[in-house]
Amino acid sequence: MDSLPIKFQVKKNGVWMLLLLAALMAASTESRKAKVVDSFEYIAMNCRAHSASITEFGAVGDGKTSNTKAFKDAVDHLGQFSSDGGSQLYVPAGKWLTGSFSVVSHFTLFLHQDAVLLASQVDINEWPVLKALPSYGRGRDAAGGRFASLIFGTNLTDVIITGENGTVDGQGAFWWQQFHKGKLKYTRPYLIELMFSDGIQISNLTLLNSPSWNVHPVYSSNILVKGITILAPVTSPNTDGINPDSCTNTRIEDCYIVSGDDCVAVKSGWDEYGIAFGMPTKQLVIRRLTCISPYSATIALGSEMSGGIQDVRAEDITAVHTESGVRIKTAVGRGGFVKDIYVRRMTMHTMKWAFWMTGNYGSHADKNYDPNALPVIQNINYRDMAADNVSMAARLEGIAGDPFTQICISNVTIGMAAKAKKVPWTCSDVGGITAGVSPRPCDLLPEQGPGKMEEGCNFPTETLPIDSVELKTCSYKINY
Ligand SMILES: *[C@@H]1O[C@H](CO)[C@@H](O)[C@H](O)[C@H]1NC(C)=O
Ligand SMILES: *[C@@H]1O[C@H](CO)[C@@H](O)[C@H](O)[C@H]1NC(C)=O
Ligand SMILES: *[C@@H]1O[C@H](CO)[C@@H](O)[C@H](O)[C@H]1NC(C)=O
Ligand SMILES: *[C@@H]1O[C@H](CO)[C@@H](O)[C@H](O)[C@H]1NC(C)=O
Ligand SMILES: *[C@@H]1O[C@H](CO)[C@@H](O)[C@H](O)[C@H]1NC(C)=O
Repeated sequence: MDSLPIKFQVKKNGVWMLLLLAALMAASTESRKAKVVDSFEYIAMNCRAHSASITEFGAVGDGKTSNTKAFKDAVDHLGQFSSDGGSQLYVPAGKWLTGSFSVVSHFTLFLHQDAVLLASQVDINEWPVLKALPSYGRGRDAAGGRFASLIFGTNLTDVIITGENGTVDGQGAFWWQQFHKGKLKYTRPYLIELMFSDGIQISNLTLLNSPSWNVHPVYSSNILVKGITILAPVTSPNTDGINPDSCTNTRIEDCYIVSGDDCVAVKSGWDEYGIAFGMPTKQLVIRRLTCISPYSATIALGSEMSGGIQDVRAEDITAVHTESGVRIKTAVGRGGFVKDIYVRRMTMHTMKWAFWMTGNYGSHADKNYDPNALPVIQNINYRDMAADNVSMAARLEGIAGDPFTQICISNVTIGMAAKAKKVPWTCSDVGGITAGVSPRPCDLLPEQGPGKMEEGCNFPTETLPIDSVELKTCSYKINY
């Protein structure tokens, strides 16, 4: 291929030469690849001035060769353009085995539709160990540090991870076994984690078999997660889909998630560590999410919510064969708050509970939590929902002496399963109202009558700043 431009320059009888070249290209498989991916366009928050392909750094897409060094070299090289128009790294079709690698500012990682990033298991040294997150105080799987995620970044501005539905495969089975055997010295890696970063886009990818959580933006802001398919066995441990954690201004939309844990879990730190760190998750919108998670929630708020969770909007959500719809999980000792939560137009098929709130989740970071640190759960609004084949409409358990208040549920019809529990609602230490809800709610949430449906639980009318982010059409040209 290197000689191609030279031939064009040398030959004067161009038409004849072009025809010959076309015939040659059709005959050669290598040329055929080059023709297919000559250049392409994609949609992103920002475009880049500089480009490279991972193959330029010696990467081999055979699924066997470790490419950790190639990714590090590529990012090191492209990092020099962070303040010079930014850069994009292209990963062509192939199976690219790699350990953890970091990204840089003003950088785009773009996966071809047949590109698979395969998480390496060959050498544990390909997974650096990081300190525990400050708002958690310890790792989730073990008291010490945690393995860096497959794709990691910290203290960055403007990072895009996208593709044409290319795949990131965490090969999690190895890690799930280690977890079940209690053999982990450190907490399992996530698939994608960005910390202390501003301006993040994660879009148009398929994420398979993460060792643990899939997408974890933490201490970050201005985040778009769009068009992500997340697949993991429904029995796999802690394979949460998308976990915005102490993040501001986040938009999650058009995602399809089948997993072994919550499809979206909104978090903000754990007990005394989360209280001290004091960074809430706020301004979050989740829309057009489809979730299948038989043992967990469609959208969970908590259980780590000690920095607070405020202003969450979720709309046009579909849950199928999922344990619960919206679940609030907290405990004495968490402190923090979950307030101003709005959910509308959720459709649920085959659920254990449509609504679940738990004030006694337990699960403490250590014994030093403050028993006087009570969470504030307030202004929780659910409206315009239909569910069928549900075992229990709602199980709402606040904390004695610390009730969950201003709960509002309006225009919700829950079809009960043939083998449903006899009492469809159980409520304790909660307060609020309902209107046009069936089956008839518990007495702590008195029914105002269907005529009052328009009067409460209203979804905010003003949009969030992240909704006005405009995506640009960017292009990539391949140099052959
Ligand atoms: C994702 O892919 C769809 C379908 O190919 C495309 O229309 C859309 O622009 C892409 N979006 C992003 C944010 O990459
Ligand atoms: C990243 O930013 C945080 C918060 O501003 C800061 O505490 C930390 O030291 C920074 N880390 C690095 C590696 O620069
Ligand atoms: C992306 O790939 C997954 C897995 O093959 C598939 O289920 C999904 O439909 C694809 N999404 C798009 C938008 O093509
Ligand atoms: C209802 O849910 C049960 C499990 O609780 C399931 O076995 C059954 O197939 C579901 N029925 C329908 C019609 O979806
Ligand atoms: C009630 O909710 C359903 C969706 O379940 C929706 O189609 C309908 O428009 C809502 N009615 C009112 C009065 O808002």
